[in-house]
Amino acid sequence: MKDKKDNTYIWWKHGVIYHLYIRSFFDSNNDGIGDLNGVTEKLDYLKELGVDAIWLSPFFKSPQVDFGYDVSNYIKIHPEYGTIDDFKTLIKEAHKRGIRIIIDMILNHTSNQHDWFVESRSSKDNPKRDWYIWQKSDKKNPPNNWRTPFGKKAWEYDKNTNEYYFHSFFKEQPDLNWRNPNVEKALFQDIRYWLDLGVDGLRLDVINLIVKDKKLRDNPSFLNQIIKPDEVYSRDRPTSIKIIKSLRQLLDTYENRMCVGEIYALPPGNSKLVAKYMDKGDNALNMAFDFSLIFARWSANKYRKVLTTGYQNIPIKGWPCTVLSNHDLNRNKAKPLFANHAKVAKLKALLSMTLYGTPFIYYGEEIGMKNVKVPYNKLKDRIGKMYWPFYTGRDKSRTPLHWNSSAHAGFSNNMPWLPVDREYKKYNIDQQSSDKNSILNAYRELIRIRKTYKVFNKGRWSLVSSASKHILAYERKRKDKQLIILLNFSRLPKQTHQYKDYHILFSTSRDNNQSHKSLKLAGLEGVILSKDKLI
Ligand code: GLC
Ligand code: CA
Repeated sequence: MKDKKDNTYIWWKHGVIYHLYIRSFFDSNNDGIGDLNGVTEKLDYLKELGVDAIWLSPFFKSPQVDFGYDVSNYIKIHPEYGTIDDFKTLIKEAHKRGIRIIIDMILNHTSNQHDWFVESRSSKDNPKRDWYIWQKSDKKNPPNNWRTPFGKKAWEYDKNTNEYYFHSFFKEQPDLNWRNPNVEKALFQDIRYWLDLGVDGLRLDVINLIVKDKKLRDNPSFLNQIIKPDEVYSRDRPTSIKIIKSLRQLLDTYENRMCVGEIYALPPGNSKLVAKYMDKGDNALNMAFDFSLIFARWSANKYRKVLTTGYQNIPIKGWPCTVLSNHDLNRNKAKPLFANHAKVAKLKALLSMTLYGTPFIYYGEEIGMKNVKVPYNKLKDRIGKMYWPFYTGRDKSRTPLHWNSSAHAGFSNNMPWLPVDREYKKYNIDQQSSDKNSILNAYRELIRIRKTYKVFNKGRWSLVSSASKHILAYERKRKDKQLIILLNFSRLPKQTHQYKDYHILFSTSRDNNQSHKSLKLAGLEGVILSKDKLI
């Protein structure tokens, strides 16, 4: 897809990206499961919201043990999601509206149903044996102490050949051996297939896991991994950057393509590690996800620290991005603020649309969707079933989008694959569209503002002094153009500095464009202040 006239515009830097979990977005054929045609049908909604690209969760052929993150064929479409023609229509219709398509590439592992693994498993001398990580060891003692966040053992004994294979996640997701060059060749060929179809970018699943220690050394204890995350042998090996660069080379043979990588790090996140994988002028990742903000406690102080450290770590040529929720983590962490849910959601919208770097919106975030309590007998995520009731898994942040107040929230005419939030009649897209003070309209307005004021694209970000410790205050500045953003994290009103010459360009809770002598923020209010209107 070609860019607009402005040749300083780079779509993935200056646009807004919508993370779309296909299974729960919109069901076009009423089988209870969201699908590709459902996305196509709703493109106008996304256009109106103002997004520039969508990242689609995996729709490749898959046994769905991990809902598409277990791929059995990278160039076939999983029938529940549609056909290749549906995908081609989606690309065409999206591009027509100026919306780009990012697909989710899972390079670390395949499904155990992938032909490659079926062959690899068949015998020790199969040509694809070395495409996966096989290791000899006796029946009772796995080759080393590596564990998976999806259970205990990361090694599965395969009686067929009396060896273990390694899996970072479920045992149905064997890890590929990226030290074998044929793996790269095969996967790059599949990636080319999508790029040739016009796909604009790749989201790279757990990309820092792809290479493992050659000697398969034991990992330090779990606690030590938190203290010294650099000493883990099952991830973050130096060779992974080499592979990323070679993928970038492939992407750069096409016009205007990008990749954003998921960097797996335990809470509280690790922005230093994330920065390691970012492009420093050396063709590493265009962008990389840092989940530190998702993990952060709701406090201005905490956010101030996380943001400052995060930005300090960004390499000079690197480009950050902002994520506030996703399909693996909780939607709403600010528990003490449940009663003020809508206010917090708007503050988060303000934050993500005014920070430095590309904002990602996880579907439903734009209407303030909440974690949904899914009862045990309706759980779909296997880790939820494994750890119930201590950890209920990821279904809670993957429930169907609320389109309107009709049955099943207008997502489908039939029973959806996961239950819809019982409160959907209280908050949905239809109802929020017509309420000028809704979360949805705050998103629409903020995206519009972000696009109007170039200072958001290129201006630097820095903290400014704040009259209250509860107010997160920062500026975006470029040459003589400046905007000030204030976010009151407290439920109580807080006095700010004077800001005499400024007017309110945007507020999460009052009419915009008011001028004022001194400013008091309402509880959980956020504002953008500006001296002049033209930037
Ligand atoms: C990533 C995905 C997650 C998946 C895992 C294994 O973390 O976001 O959903 O289960 O990788 O592929
Ligand atoms: Ca469907």
